[in-house]
Amino acid sequence: MIPIDWSIFQQIGSEPIPSHLKKWWFALGGTVMYLFIIQIVTGIMLTFYYVPTPEQAYQSIAEITQEIRFGWYIRSLHKWAANLMIVAMILHLLRVFFTGAYRHPRQLNWMVGFSLLMVTLMFGLTGYSLVFEQLSFWGATVAANLVDAMPIIGGWASYLLRGGETVGGDTLTRFYVIHIGILPTVAFILVALHIMFVRLHGVKEDDSDLNSVLKEKRYFKFWPDHVTTEMMVGAFLIYLLTIMALIFPAGLGEPANPNVTPAHIKPEWFFYFSYRLLKLTTLKMSVIITMTMGGIAFFWPFIESFFVKYFNMPKQVSIILGALAFTGFLTLTVWESFA
Ligand code: HEM
Repeated sequence: MIPIDWSIFQQIGSEPIPSHLKKWWFALGGTVMYLFIIQIVTGIMLTFYYVPTPEQAYQSIAEITQEIRFGWYIRSLHKWAANLMIVAMILHLLRVFFTGAYRHPRQLNWMVGFSLLMVTLMFGLTGYSLVFEQLSFWGATVAANLVDAMPIIGGWASYLLRGGETVGGDTLTRFYVIHIGILPTVAFILVALHIMFVRLHGVKEDDSDLNSVLKEKRYFKFWPDHVTTEMMVGAFLIYLLTIMALIFPAGLGEPANPNVTPAHIKPEWFFYFSYRLLKLTTLKMSVIITMTMGGIAFFWPFIESFFVKYFNMPKQVSIILGALAFTGFLTLTVWESFA
C-alpha cells in the first residue's frame, strides 16, 4: 500500500465548476494550458537535435526539418502552437477583462496572468532567434534595439541579452538558456500560482446567469465533465495544428549573415504594433508608449478602483478604454502586416 490519502485527489478533482464555463469562450485558460503543454513536449523533443552554436544552429534546424523522422512535424507543431498560444492568451485576457473578472478579489491573479503573457512573448522572441536565419537574426537585432531604448535599464538589459554590443554568437547561447531554462522555470511558477488563485477564488460567476438559472443547476463537476470537454478541445487543437503543419510547414530562409542587412526586416507579428509605432514615431517613443500601455494594463485593477473611489468613475469607462486600446493594438498590427 502506498501511504497516500487518495480522498485528497477526489476532493481536488470534484470541484464544482460554474455552468457558464461550458461555453468555450469562458474556459479559454484551459486552451492556453493545453497549448503550453504541447510547447513543453515538442520543445523537449527539439532540444535532442538542436545545437545552440552559431556554426551549427542553422544546420541542425535544417537537419530537423529535412532529415530527422517527423522532425518537420514536431518543429511545425512547436511553431504553430506558439502562435496559437499567444492568440488564445489574448482572447483569454479579453474575456477576463470584458467580464470584469480582474476586479476584487482577483486583482493579483490578473497581474500573474499578465506576467505570463510577457513571459510568453519573451519565449517567442528568444525562440524565433534560435533558428539563426537571416530574418530571425535581424529580427533579434530589432528587438535588442527596442530593449536598448528602454529608459534607465535599457543599455544594461540589452548588453546582458546580447552578451555584447551587437547580436552574435554569445546572443544565441543566452537566448537558448533563457528559452529552455529560465523562462520555463518562471512560467511553471507563474502557472502554478495562477491556478492556485483560480481555485482559491473560484471562477467568477456569470452575472447574467444568476437570476435566470436555478441555483442547483449552476454547477457541473470538474471530473469527469469539464475534463472530458477539455480533452475534446485538446483533440481538436491537435487536429488543427496538424492541418496547419501540413499546409504551412515551418520553413527555413537564408542562414544568418551579420554583414548583409535584408531589405525588409520584421520581428514576429506579436511585436508588429511596437514596430509600427517605431516607424510612426521614434525608437525611444515607441518603447516608452509600449511600456506605458503595458504598465497601465498590468496595474489596471488598482488604477480602476482608484478612479472609481476618488473620482466616481463609472465602471463602463473601463470597457470603452479597453475596447479603444485593443482596437489600437489590432490596427497597428494589421497595418504593419500589410506594409
Ligand atoms: C500561460 C498562460 C495562462 C494560463 C495557462 C491560464 C489559465 C487559466 C485558467 C485555466 C483559468 C480558469 C478559467 C478559464 O479557463 O478562463 C484562468 C482564469 C483567469 N486568468 Fe488565466 N491563464 C493564462 C494567462 C492569463 C492572462 C494573460 C491573464 C490576464 C492578464 C489571465 C488572467 C486570469 C484571471 C483574472 C482569471 C480568473 C478569471 C475568473 O475568475 O473568471 N490569465 N486562467
